[in-house]
Amino acid sequence: MVNLEEKRAERLSEVEFNTIRQLVADSIGVNLTTKKKQLVISRLSKRLRKLGLSDFSQYLELVEEDKKEKEMMFNLITTNVTHFFREEHHFDYLTEELFPQLEEQAEAKKKSKRVRIWSAACSTGEEAYSVAIVAADYFRDKGWKIEILASDINTEVLSVAKRGVYSKEQVKKIPYHLLTDYFKLGVGPNQGLLKVKEKLSKMITFYRINLAADRSYPIAEPLDIILCRNVFIYFNQETQNEIINRFYQHLTEGGLLLMGHSEKINLLNQGSKWELIRPTIYQKLP
Ligand SMILES: C[S@@+](CC[C@H](N)C(=O)[O-])C[C@H]1O[C@@H](n2cnc3c(N)ncnc32)[C@H](O)[C@@H]1O
Repeated sequence: MVNLEEKRAERLSEVEFNTIRQLVADSIGVNLTTKKKQLVISRLSKRLRKLGLSDFSQYLELVEEDKKEKEMMFNLITTNVTHFFREEHHFDYLTEELFPQLEEQAEAKKKSKRVRIWSAACSTGEEAYSVAIVAADYFRDKGWKIEILASDINTEVLSVAKRGVYSKEQVKKIPYHLLTDYFKLGVGPNQGLLKVKEKLSKMITFYRINLAADRSYPIAEPLDIILCRNVFIYFNQETQNEIINRFYQHLTEGGLLLMGHSEKINLLNQGSKWELIRPTIYQKLP
């Protein structure tokens, strides 16, 4: 039976909901529509109970004064659904089109043998490892350096990503020959789980980056590819435009931006020029 305390922890007034919406929008750019109220209640009321708080006003006071709790709240609010080789046509495009072009450029001495990639909202890591696998497999024994940055705002998912341990169910989309090449089977308490091998994980640096609020990103050299998939849907148009312009600065000429299936760049965005070369694949124009 649900007791009175628990019932109170599930009551979120309009004023409190608007306070949360504003805080989330200002801090991480995520636009919580009014339809999301129930989702906010279900995700945060568990946290209230865990902290022994009886209502949202107490929780909001805590969030206001405790940076760690604010971070925890953002961790709970973000949606982190992902899987290996999601939107497979992106990975096909890289191996069939982009990587051969980069090789040609390197042969013509127009580029060094190095490919730099950013998975800009990597969640629990599947996207970053998928792109690492296709790059490692394509450039195998060719003397190329593969450098991948994987970032997210959510510190919990980032620690899962860093660990690189997945269940059999989670890796089922990875072709068998790649799975045996890049993962090892767990033993002892990790029996039944698979861990990314070091030859793959050493290509990736994980970092917390807030795409919406960080005015500049900690990336020193130009990138060949940015994957920013299934996160733009949460941002308003203004935030999207600002991020796109920052991405533009970090891409090499002709570099690619890969977006989620229901996302697109506003091509009239004044600050940067792009060409849509395949569905959801944008190329930086000079
Ligand atoms: C639905 S997941 C997408 C994961 C992966 N890119 C994919 O397509 O499978 C969205 C991710 O965006 C992250 N996110 C939300 N707001 C963010 C922000 N302001 N900066 C960086 N990452 C953010 C969330 O934490 C979440 O992990």
